[in-house]
Amino acid sequence: MNAPWKPGAPGNRDAFNAFICDDAALDVLRPVVIEMGWQPEKCNKGGLRNAVQSLSISASPNILMVDLSESGDPLSDINALAEVCEPGTVVIAVGQVNDVRLYRDLLASGIHDYLLKPLSPGQVRDALVNAQAVFASPKAHDPSVAKRHISTAVIGTRGGVGASTIATSLAWLFSADEKMPTALLDLDVHFGTGALALDLEPGRGLTDAIENPGRIDGLFIERAMIRANDNLAILSAEAPMNTPLMTDGAAFVQLEEEFRQAFEMTVIDLPRNMLINFPHVLADINVVLVVAEMTLASARDTIRILSWLKTNAGHVQPVVIANKVQAGVAEISKADFEASIERKIGFTIPYDIKAATNAAKLGQTFADANRTAKAGVAMREVAKAVMGVGEGDLIDEPGKAKTSLLGKLDLKGMLSKKPKGAPAKAPAPAQA
Ligand SMILES: Nc1ncnc2c1ncn2[C@@H]1O[C@H](COP(=O)(O)OP(=O)(O)OP(=O)(O)O)[C@@H](O)[C@H]1O
Ligand SMILES: [Mg+2]
Repeated sequence: MNAPWKPGAPGNRDAFNAFICDDAALDVLRPVVIEMGWQPEKCNKGGLRNAVQSLSISASPNILMVDLSESGDPLSDINALAEVCEPGTVVIAVGQVNDVRLYRDLLASGIHDYLLKPLSPGQVRDALVNAQAVFASPKAHDPSVAKRHISTAVIGTRGGVGASTIATSLAWLFSADEKMPTALLDLDVHFGTGALALDLEPGRGLTDAIENPGRIDGLFIERAMIRANDNLAILSAEAPMNTPLMTDGAAFVQLEEEFRQAFEMTVIDLPRNMLINFPHVLADINVVLVVAEMTLASARDTIRILSWLKTNAGHVQPVVIANKVQAGVAEISKADFEASIERKIGFTIPYDIKAATNAAKLGQTFADANRTAKAGVAMREVAKAVMGVGEGDLIDEPGKAKTSLLGKLDLKGMLSKKPKGAPAKAPAPAQA
């Protein structure tokens, strides 16, 4: 019972639970359970159905013994169990059907062992000791042995620059291409497009989390998140416009904490306004992708956001991404943009309307739908760079200051460098 992206064991699990149909088997089981140091009252009368019912409202135990005797279709019932059973739980099935094919199918569906009735104390003891050893051994996605976790926030410097396009693309690339368990958190609570880009309904998960931050735990995120592929789970909302965002931001921090336990990558689509209201959302973020376009307004806000990050989140690694870049059509040249922000642009993604249309039509992320387009390739480079974080290589160093930088705020100066005769442009209107 261990879907790859599910969260790790919370601290409130029971060591052992059993759901056994008949008294004879319970009489064999209880003394062994006492020997193991567990509570005999955790041996319940009942079968698989009762186990599913009980686990749907409470935390799963470390080891679960479940009786299949009264189940008409053990395999499909086991699947129902998998849906409510937290990861890491070691499940031992008990039954009266002596069929090697059933045994194999049960093992294939995640059951650790199958004990044939009538039970004997020796057989039960061996199975429980073995299950305990398996539970204690490190697992592939056990958070305590997790290699590392990288949290990336994607912030658009202006509305519509493509922050969500990049966030969803990265989440897809980490999860589908790299097979890394990934969480995508869309914090644009009213107007988010994370689910839309993946052709999914956002569900109520994020709304529930905001309303009841106290409920957020491994089990909650497992149930509340929408699965986009085997390794990608997303949490987003389309909150009604007459519902203001009522939160102190505690839910966001709590979610990030749970994601760190349960996934290898977190991608947060973070509207820039969130920095003002909930600066602590960046407390444990590793990388901030600052998405810009080559406009005056975007240059100004890139400067402001980078400066804010330096003061308020000095631990994050900011990377500036220029998106929707069109040769010769920029309001500001790349060189002037870099000079004004006193930093190199880390990655440049070209403007590609065909690619954007293609992604929308297919209901796929931009990077997934446009693998050979230059813009898609550039997004894959961003994904690779983010994955390299923590391995020592800085992915975007502050620009080596060229002499005579334009003053940080001498933005108008950049416009006046336009060729003679070019119409003076007003700053791009804010789109958010
Ligand atoms: N490189 C690109 N070339 C062409 N179109 C793009 C590119 N990147 C994004 N787009 C398109 O730009 C539009 C806005 O993108 P997106 O929603 O990702 O921006 P955003 O910064 O998240 O906007 P908002 O401020 O509303 O959150 C979308 O229609 C998207 O398909
Ligand atoms: Mg967006």
